[in-house]
Amino acid sequence: MKYFPACLSERESNAVAERINKLILKHGWGFWALHCINDDRFIGFTGLHQPSGALPFSPCIEIGWRLDRQYWGKGLATEAARCALQFAFGELALDQVVSFTAVANHRSQAVMQRLGMKRDAENFFHPDLPPGHPLSEHVLYRLDAAEFRPVSDSS
Ligand SMILES: CC(C)(COP(=O)(O)OP(=O)(O)OC[C@H]1O[C@@H](n2cnc3c(N)ncnc32)[C@H](O)[C@@H]1OP(=O)(O)O)[C@@H](O)C(=O)NCCC(=O)NCCS
Repeated sequence: MKYFPACLSERESNAVAERINKLILKHGWGFWALHCINDDRFIGFTGLHQPSGALPFSPCIEIGWRLDRQYWGKGLATEAARCALQFAFGELALDQVVSFTAVANHRSQAVMQRLGMKRDAENFFHPDLPPGHPLSEHVLYRLDAAEFRPVSDSS
């Protein structure tokens, strides 16, 4: 949670999970739970989300990820994200998926780059954070449907 404004309490984290669950029930898609295929442990989430706030590039569908630290460095976020993108450009027939993160969050940007997403020349300041907040400046990456390499072609 280093690149988010604050860590969540257990209660806040459960509330986030509840909101994610409700959105999945409403739309049929969302930030999906990830389970490790070896031990079936819950290891985080990856998936699609429609940001509710007014971002400079709204309306949009974003792709996002958050994994338990011990599961980093294994290619799992990128693998899961490719499946989510396949769903976005297949079942949902979206034209474009975006992703954004704080400028300092290089690990997340590396996932975006592995997916073939392209960075916008201009950064933006996240409207949910006060001006001058050290995390407010964000990079924006986009992937168009035509640029996406399906899972079967990517390994
Ligand atoms: C962002 C986040 C999901 C990235 O996780 P990650 O494990 O670094 O990303 P990937 O799944 O793409 O894994 C890539 C790494 O696995 C390695 N790897 C090992 N085996 C691999 C395999 N079989 N296939 C692909 N990559 C593999 C790659 O070499 C790379 O290693 P490196 O980081 O040393 O270069 C993770 O850091 C995280 O949860 N951060 C906190 C939450 C967060 O910031 N979310 C984004 C907010 S916008």
